[in-house]
Amino acid sequence: MAKVLVATVKPFSAQAVEEVKGVFQEAGYEVEVLSAYPAQSDLIAAVADADGLIIRSDNVDREVLEAASKLKIVVRAGAGYDNVDLEAATEKGVVVMNTPGQNSNAVAELAAGMMVYMNRNRLTPSTGTELRGKKLGIHAYGYVGRIVGMIAKGFGMKVYAYDPFIDPVIIKNDGVAVETSAESLYRKCEYISLHIPANAETRGLVNFELMNQMPQGATLVNTARKEVIDEEGLKKMFQVRDDFRYLSDIAPDCKEELLEAYGERVFFTPKKMGAQTAEANLNAGVAAARQIVNFLEHGDTTFKVN
Ligand code: 3PG
Repeated sequence: MAKVLVATVKPFSAQAVEEVKGVFQEAGYEVEVLSAYPAQSDLIAAVADADGLIIRSDNVDREVLEAASKLKIVVRAGAGYDNVDLEAATEKGVVVMNTPGQNSNAVAELAAGMMVYMNRNRLTPSTGTELRGKKLGIHAYGYVGRIVGMIAKGFGMKVYAYDPFIDPVIIKNDGVAVETSAESLYRKCEYISLHIPANAETRGLVNFELMNQMPQGATLVNTARKEVIDEEGLKKMFQVRDDFRYLSDIAPDCKEELLEAYGERVFFTPKKMGAQTAEANLNAGVAAARQIVNFLEHGDTTFKVN
């Protein structure tokens, strides 16, 4: 009997856990749920006899993979898989997948919500500003970026996107203007929403020079990864631009410094929560479970990333 471990430091909703279990029970698999575990050693111990593993932002490094002698597949219930050591997984013959699109709406709604929240002075009655008529630049037009664009158009924003990996026709067909460089996107838009994955190419990509292209009233929204921001550049932006605001679901390492010096112009969620909705938990969790069954039963490698 195959055994699957569902390891989520940040727990899924109870309903999602039940439905994920249901998928495995129907397939005749054993399931173990390890949620909100206090130490990485708990994951290392629990993975020892697992054939399959579902995770969220949990850290699947070489040590975890070495401890998992039976493991055949890891599915990251979500989009970003920068928390999985792909090289080690490939060496060990472990297939890694993500579940693209399954939690995107939740993240996009948070990005939009943070803009409204800050524009309305954190929901206090003093005079705020509107999004209508403002320009929003979407940096990377994947599943989340695309939904952010749709929501922004609902607000009456003018929407632009830059993504060298997406066919411009797809962007244009959504009624979104295509920018051909990150510089031109930042130069044009007072609001920028980041949807770049974290990898070797994108580390520190959003640097001072790029951010400083933004026009007056610059607001940078990050629901992607903290690693894509160059933090020295971020601090410099606050020093030289008194109009600049930074709203993020993934607090930077310099969070306390920014809060202390520029508290009025920053907003950080208490804990990464973009994908933390009932719907996203269910969609991503069940998709991950089905992908594991389809792989173990039929060798289906759709969404394999290594
Ligand atoms: C993702 O990459 O899917 C999002 O960042 C959500 O991550 P989470 O599952 O840790 O909430």
